[in-house]
Amino acid sequence: MAVRPARSSDLDELVELRLENGRVHAALDPSVYRVPDGAAVRSHYAAELAADHDERTLLVAVLEQRVIGLAEVSADPPPPAHQILLPVPSAHLHLVVAADVRGQGVGRRLERAAREWASLHGLRQLIAGIHVDNETALEFYARRGYRDHATICLADLDAASA
Ligand SMILES: CC(C)(COP(=O)(O)OP(=O)(O)OC[C@H]1O[C@@H](n2cnc3c(N)ncnc32)[C@H](O)[C@@H]1OP(=O)(O)O)[C@@H](O)C(=O)NCCC(=O)NCCS
Repeated sequence: MAVRPARSSDLDELVELRLENGRVHAALDPSVYRVPDGAAVRSHYAAELAADHDERTLLVAVLEQRVIGLAEVSADPPPPAHQILLPVPSAHLHLVVAADVRGQGVGRRLERAAREWASLHGLRQLIAGIHVDNETALEFYARRGYRDHATICLADLDAASA
């Protein structure tokens, strides 16, 4: 297995991995997640692959010419001076591995490559936003030294709660 930056020839597989991530998350919590429109995902990734920027990357895991996993790393903008957040250079990380090859070390390789890319780009923290019920991912990140640092509290504002 190799990990490398995504190329335009990977577009179909990138779209499929994003849709797969949507399926996993929509199954976990359909009140928060959806499977996005395939055409919208395609045009997003096509633009990303064509862009030349330093603050984001798409890294793919490839086995026998098949793209089996994706790490998206996006540097966060520094917090404005009026905010209380320390301006530590950080990035958000999203990982997804094809369902039939999970649990075989693909995510581990992608996370390591994401760390390397982030370090090379002067970043000092990686942040993964994980749903509270996504036990597989929570365990995966905990084993790589990620600590819980925030909880997002959500209220649905429906008629009953008004
Ligand atoms: C989270 C995810 C990326 C992990 O990728 P993966 O390729 O399955 O993970 P790996 O095979 O590299 O496993 C790494 C470790 O997690 C453990 N692990 C993997 N699957 C596991 C499972 N189902 N339950 C418990 N532990 C598991 C492995 O034993 C391994 O242990 P180690 O740290 O001692 O080496 C993958 O499960 C996935 O794509 N999930 C759906 C998308 C998602 O939820 N992404 C995260 C939020 S954006």
